Amino acid sequence: MMSTQQGKRIHFIGAGNMASAMLRGLVSSGFSPALLSCSAPAETETQRLVDELGIRAAADNLELLTHCDAIVLGVKPQILKAVCEELAPFLASTNRQPLVISIAAGTTTQSIAEWLKQDPDLLPLVRSMPNTPAQVGMGASGLFATPAVKADQKSLVQQIFEAFGIAVWVEDESQLHAVTALSGSGPAYVFEFIKGMADAGVSLGLSPEVSRQLAEATVAGAAKLCAASSDEEISTLQRKVMSPGGTTEQGVRVLQSEQLTATVSRAMEAARDQSLYLAGEGPGPAKN
Ligand SMILES: NC(=O)c1ccc[n+]([C@@H]2O[C@H](COP(=O)([O-])OP(=O)(O)OC[C@H]3O[C@@H](n4cnc5c(N)ncnc54)[C@H](OP(=O)(O)O)[C@@H]3O)[C@@H](O)[C@H]2O)c1
Repeated sequence: MMSTQQGKRIHFIGAGNMASAMLRGLVSSGFSPALLSCSAPAETETQRLVDELGIRAAADNLELLTHCDAIVLGVKPQILKAVCEELAPFLASTNRQPLVISIAAGTTTQSIAEWLKQDPDLLPLVRSMPNTPAQVGMGASGLFATPAVKADQKSLVQQIFEAFGIAVWVEDESQLHAVTALSGSGPAYVFEFIKGMADAGVSLGLSPEVSRQLAEATVAGAAKLCAASSDEEISTLQRKVMSPGGTTEQGVRVLQSEQLTATVSRAMEAARDQSLYLAGEGPGPAKN
C-alpha cells in the first residue's frame, strides 16, 4: 500500500495521546519511520516514541521542518496559538510550503491561518476531528480541507487518518460540530451503554468480569456486523435478531418505549451546542 504517498515526510508537533496513536498507526500501516518525526517539550515523551517506533525526535519544533511535506499540530487547543506563532516565521520564509494538519478540537481554520500569519485562501490546511479509539487502530475521524489543499495532499491526509481507523471528509467546516457530537464524543456514549449493560448483567446474577466481557464483545460484535451489512437498513438487522415472541423483542420493546433514540439525539444536540459554545458561536446547551 501507500505507493503514491511513500516518501512523504511528516512532522508531529506534540507527542501526547493522539499524536502517539497516529504515529503508531502510521508505522504499523507501512509509513517509513525514518520519514516520521515529532517534537515536544518533554524529552521522555518523544524518546519513548523514538525507542518504540524508530521515528526521529527533533530538539525543537522547527528543527526538522525544512524538508517536511506535512506538519501535524498535535498539541492542546489552548497552546495551539503559541505553537502557530512559533511556526509563522518558518512558513513565511520557506519556498516549499508544507501541508498543515490540525487535530485540535474546536479551533477554526480561520484562527489557525491567522496565527500562522498566512492567507487562509492560500494555506493548505486540514482540520480534523479524530477520536480516542484511534489508540487501538479503530478511530473515526472527520476531515475538512481548505480550498488550497491539493488532491495529492488530500490523498496523503486520507492515508494518514486511515492508518488508525476510518476517515470521512465534510464539505463545510461547520459540520465538524456534528462530527464532534457524533464520533468525537461518541465513545463516551458507548461506554455509558456498555456500563449499563455490564451493571445490569451483574444485577441479573453474572460476575462483574463475565458481564463486562460480554457487554464489550456484544457492542464490538454488533458494530462489526452492522459495518459488514452496510447494504441493509439497521432496522432490518435489528428485526433479524428479534424473533416474534422471543427475548430480544421484549428487551427492544422497553428501549423503544423509553425512547432511547430520542435520548441519544438530545445527548448529541447538547454536545453539538457545547461545541458551538466553545467555538464562540452559540450560547451553549440548555441547562435542564
Ligand atoms: N485525545 C483525544 O481523544 C482527542 C480527540 C480528538 C482531538 N484531540 C486533540 O488532540 C490534541 C492533543 O490531545 P492529546 O489528548 O493528545 O493531548 P496530550 O496527550 O496532552 O498531548 C499534548 C502534547 O503536546 C505537547 N506540547 C505541549 N506544549 C508544546 C509545545 N509548545 N510544542 C510542542 N509540543 C507541545 C505535550 O508535550 P509535554 O507533555 O512535553 O508538555 C504533549 O506531547 C488536542 O488538540 C485535542 O483537542 C484529542
